[in-house]
Amino acid sequence: MSVDWPLLRREAVAMTGRSYAPYSGVLVGAAGVTGDGRLVHGCNVENASYGVTLCAECGLVSDLAGSGGGRLAAVAIVAGDGRPLAPCGRCRQVLYEHGGAGLLIDQGEGAEPTTLGALLPDAFGPDEVTARAGR
Ligand code: THU
Repeated sequence: MSVDWPLLRREAVAMTGRSYAPYSGVLVGAAGVTGDGRLVHGCNVENASYGVTLCAECGLVSDLAGSGGGRLAAVAIVAGDGRPLAPCGRCRQVLYEHGGAGLLIDQGEGAEPTTLGALLPDAFGPDEVTARAGR
């Protein structure tokens, strides 16, 4: 499928406006497109108990499930300055479940997108669970 990266970036930037980040001040917005062409969104939501903060990608995956599920095809994640933000390790794993190694991750205007497989090589995913479950 062809990905409208400028649209995804604009949507991600718009989501930074919904960010709740009173502790770090780091606004994060994420926007993705599914295999069937739906847009999904997320923003980070911090907490007074810092460690339970929700990253923007977690919100995006919740939006994916809540809006009908399916597979993620491409995601743009940006900070408040509009530049791409590298997904944290936990979010790479969270995204892997719903997009796999082929999920495209924006690297910003003028740069080729990377893949989640490049950001999370040798991932532990659903296939591993199936293959190794002792039943
Ligand atoms: N953050 C995200 O939303 N996604 C990431 O992948 C990395 C970090 C947020 C969490 C926290 O609210 C802020 O950025 C600073 O760590």
